[in-house]
Amino acid sequence: MASNNLLTPVYFFSHGSTMMLGEESSSAQYWKQCGDEALAHNIKGVIIMGAHWAALNDVVQVATNPKPDKSPVAYVHPSKYANYKLNPDMRTGNRCIDMLRAAGFEAEGNPGFNWIHDTYLILIRMFPNGCPPTTIISMNARYDPHYHVALGAALRPLRKEGYLLIGSGGAVHNLYRNVWGPMLAYRDNFAQQTPPEDWALEFRQSFQDAVESNSGPRLRRAVTRLMKHPQYRDAHATDDHFMSAMFVAGAVGDDEDEGTYGQLKAETWELTNMCNSQYAFGSWATAAA
Ligand SMILES: [Fe+2]
Repeated sequence: MASNNLLTPVYFFSHGSTMMLGEESSSAQYWKQCGDEALAHNIKGVIIMGAHWAALNDVVQVATNPKPDKSPVAYVHPSKYANYKLNPDMRTGNRCIDMLRAAGFEAEGNPGFNWIHDTYLILIRMFPNGCPPTTIISMNARYDPHYHVALGAALRPLRKEGYLLIGSGGAVHNLYRNVWGPMLAYRDNFAQQTPPEDWALEFRQSFQDAVESNSGPRLRRAVTRLMKHPQYRDAHATDDHFMSAMFVAGAVGDDEDEGTYGQLKAETWELTNMCNSQYAFGSWATAAA
């Protein structure tokens, strides 16, 4: 087995609804724990792909706005996010563009991009006392799983330099099939008046099986194959919240990652059918101090 003791862990976080910023949950506690651990190990920065920003045609973009605004977060009081200071990492952003171009991507900076809650909700939860230097990578709107695996693979070497790579999306995330009644009537996003439906339970389990039973290149194959799962389209009406799982598989699916399996660390169901699973791939215990 190849050594992986110089590589930072990688995370796939299901950010859920905006209420995951406004309400407490075991997932939020876990995000904070991951942030504390990252700071304790002096990460150089965060590199994150979210689920709300996709570039058109053949392009992938990197956020290069030195003073980004925040898109508002529906249903959440502005006091929970308005004063949080974003910390865009210009130097690493430009470096990511170079790395992506060297890997054959049509990569470019986007100097006008404002940050969206898919990424800064996670950053606030992980790092409530201050955002580390952060680089946001867009998706590509063709939503080709293999393209997004290749994006993660291209940026994987940054794990050897102390960068934390994160995918922010959703394990089961279909807004059309959520049960919105208790949320609209009572602002209760965690209400669970009935069990989740079978398709949601089935896909949630398939995702867990895929990432906990495969490592290295097999992880990449298993995660991309999930998009052919019979319940995939029920679990994801659109592909946007699943692309960062591909990015993660690229970032932690090299030959050198053999033996590094995903681990389900926390999970929060919302709106009856949305499963916010939080996965870690690798740990600081095996990374360089
Ligand atoms: Fe989202």
